Formats: sequence, structure tokens, C-alpha cells
Amino acid sequence: MAKMWAGRTSGDTNKLADDFNSSIHFDCKMYKEDIKGSMAHAMMLSAKNIISQKDADALVEGLEGILNDLESGALSFDMSCEDIHMFVEEELTKRLGDVGKKLHTARSRNDQVALDLRMYLRGRIDTISSLVKELLEVLTNKASEHKATIMPGYTHLQRAQPVTFGHHLMAYAMMLLRDLDRLCDCRKRINLSPIGCCALAGTTYDTDRYFEAEKLGFDGICLNSLDGVSDRDFCLELLSALSILMMHLSRFSEEIILWSSWEFKFIELSDSFTTGSSIMPQKKNPDMAELVRGKTGRVYGDLMALLTTLKGLPLAYNKDMQEDKESIFDACDTAEMCLSVFVPMIDEMSVCESNMKKAAQGGFINATDLADYLVKKGLPFRSAYKISGQIVAKCISDGYVLDTLPLSDYKKFSDLFEEDVYEEISLETCVAKRISEGGTSVASVEKQIEYVKSKI
Ligand code: ARG
Repeated sequence: MAKMWAGRTSGDTNKLADDFNSSIHFDCKMYKEDIKGSMAHAMMLSAKNIISQKDADALVEGLEGILNDLESGALSFDMSCEDIHMFVEEELTKRLGDVGKKLHTARSRNDQVALDLRMYLRGRIDTISSLVKELLEVLTNKASEHKATIMPGYTHLQRAQPVTFGHHLMAYAMMLLRDLDRLCDCRKRINLSPIGCCALAGTTYDTDRYFEAEKLGFDGICLNSLDGVSDRDFCLELLSALSILMMHLSRFSEEIILWSSWEFKFIELSDSFTTGSSIMPQKKNPDMAELVRGKTGRVYGDLMALLTTLKGLPLAYNKDMQEDKESIFDACDTAEMCLSVFVPMIDEMSVCESNMKKAAQGGFINATDLADYLVKKGLPFRSAYKISGQIVAKCISDGYVLDTLPLSDYKKFSDLFEEDVYEEISLETCVAKRISEGGTSVASVEKQIEYVKSKI
């Protein structure tokens, strides 16, 4: 079929070149945005007397028909078209004749594709944000259930100080809250309309860019036409926000994988979110968490791919930019899929409180509190630290933990030790005493939960 842009050339491109050039197999995802954008454009053209009201009505009706037919399945995409924009315009012209040919007045595919992409990504951000909110909901509920469940907190993956499982979960909630913030911030910059920038320089027609922006729910317009058609920062921002979100999910996944091993057994994933082995009958594998961790690399790859695509491009539009879509679509699909699985996986996991407690009891994680005990009795911290370290060494060689070492042994290290030391270093006290803002005490975790809930 002759190309709509045939004119200077015959439009008869080589079949290989056609396939190579075409983007309809992925940009067809944006059919709704393309059609809605065209409807607003037709209305603007008639509002500004560039085309007649009658023609605009016919265009809008024709576009509506195409939209309905695509949604009902009566019409399917013609994959021989170059892209979604050409498909819609060709179909419209098939249906309306010459009137259809008026739609592309005062616009270009360059501003059209930027418009479609911004509208499309707006929607994807909203879906992803509501999934993040669902995950936050699940996390805050779980954290609330486990605000007093003691587990070892780690640094260097070595047992460090006692924390609560609720506190640990709320750390992830804080990360996700920032993710939400980033998505929302990026949406603000997405929500500016490029339509009317035309090919690159604007247009000689007396158009009204604000009319279209308002009709399509934008907060404003891109103020420089060269920038409007060549800016893909909004894709990069979204890819960065999604990369960071995936990094958070990946770190969380890593812990879930560790925690579900027999070495930890802090949690057990539900049967519906684990898999078995084809040979080892005892296996219950955390495949979902592993896949989330694995898919994080893909999203980083999408970000790197687009950054690299854009880095050498002169202004304004270049065909290289067609490469933006597969990257950003893949990242959105991946993040959405990962979140969809993560929410019920976390919701359904069970917590092995007694294993957490047992691990917390075995690693001298109350040694800091032992030092603090001596400080409160008047010793400088560095001296208290040294004595506590020596006591830990003694416990290790004699087979004690701090909670079971006899008072007579404590007294050999310092006269300041009294019977009250045991109460002071109990795990419950260690947690309860960490009342500093953001600390692990129950009251502090409750405050964090309230904060996150107020934000969602
Ligand atoms: N399919 C193209 C893209 O995705 C649409 C814009 C084409 N513009 C052009 N001047 N060839 O970028």
C-alpha cells in the first residue's frame, strides 16, 4: 500500500526496511490515547476556525467509531501500517474520505507521539502507584501485628541489636513511600502537553494549545516546541523511579529468600507463592521473590538503554526516539507484575516468631545495652564498651549468654553490676527502651505506621 507520506518519494520501501521501521506492533498499546488526542485536536481545529464544525463533528464521530470497533474487536490493527498514528489516520480516511485527510492539519507525528506517550504513561503511573499503596497497606497491617515481635537486627549480616519485625517491615514501608513520592513527582512533569509543537518549530496556523491541553487533562503545555518534541526526560524519570522501586523490592526479596531458608526460618511463604523441585521432594522454593530480584536487572537495563539512546541525539526529533517505547513499556509491565505478585505474597506469608526470638537470644545482641547499663552507673562509654566486650568473650569461652552469666562472674569485671542487670539487658527491655524518634520501640513503630497510613 502507498505510504501516507508518499510524495517526494514513491513511498514504496523495501519490505525489510518497512518491517525495520515499523513500530505498530508495540505502539498499538497507545491506541486509546492516540484517538482521544486526535478528537481533542479536531475540536481545537474547529474552535479556531481552521476546519469547519461539520468536519470536526465528522472526525470526532469517525474516531469514536474506530475506538469502539477496536474495543469490541470488530476492527483489528493493520500491522502493515507504520505506526499507530498512521493506522488511525488511514482507517479514518477509509471511513470518511477527504474529511479524514484534514485531521493532521497543524500537527505532526512528532508532537503526536509525545502526546500519546505522556497520556499513556500517566495511566501506567496511576496503576503502579495504587499497587505500591496496596503493598504499603499490607506492610503496615503486618507491622502492626508484629510491632512487639523481637528479631535480631543485622549489620554486615551479623547479629547486631534487637529490633522488632514490625520495625523492620516499616523500613521497607518508608522506601515505598519515597517511591510513591517519586512517581507522583514524575507525573507532574509528564502532565504537560506537547501537542501543537508540531514537527519542531510550531505552526503558522492560529492554534490554541491550551484548549487541547485542557481537554486532555494536562496541567499545562511544553513551552518550547523543539524541546516539546525531543524531550524524553519524563521517560527517564519514570525509568529511574521504577529502577529504584525495583531495587527496594529486590532487597526485600533477598531478605525473604534468606528468611525462608532453614538456616533462618523467620518466615514461611504460603504454598500459593512457592514452587517445588522436579527432583528434590522436600523443596519449597521462593521463586517469586527470586524472580522479582532477577527482573530488577531488566528494569535497570531499560533505563540504561534509553539513556544511551538519547545521549547523542541532536535536536529535535530523530527516529532513534522510537526506541523509547519498548524500554518504558517493559519497565512498567515488569514493575506492575512484580508488585502484583508481591502484595499477596507478603500478605500471605507467616511469621515464625519463636525462631526470630531464638536467633535474637543467641548472638549477644544486648551487648550494647550491657555497656549502656555501666554508663548509667557512671562509667565512661568507652570503658563500659571494653568491659562488655571482655564479658562477651568470657561467655563465649564458658558457654554462657549475657542473660545466663552468673552475677558473681559479672562482679569480677566491675563492682557496678547488681541484680538489676538482667532486667536491663532482657531483649524486651532493649526494644522497649529504644524510644528515640524512629527507633524500634513499640510506640515508635506505631507512630511510623500512623505516618505511613496518613500518607496513603
Ligand atoms: N513511530 C514514531 C515514533 O515512535 C512516531 C513518530 C514518527 N515521526 C517521524 N518523523 N517519522 O517515534
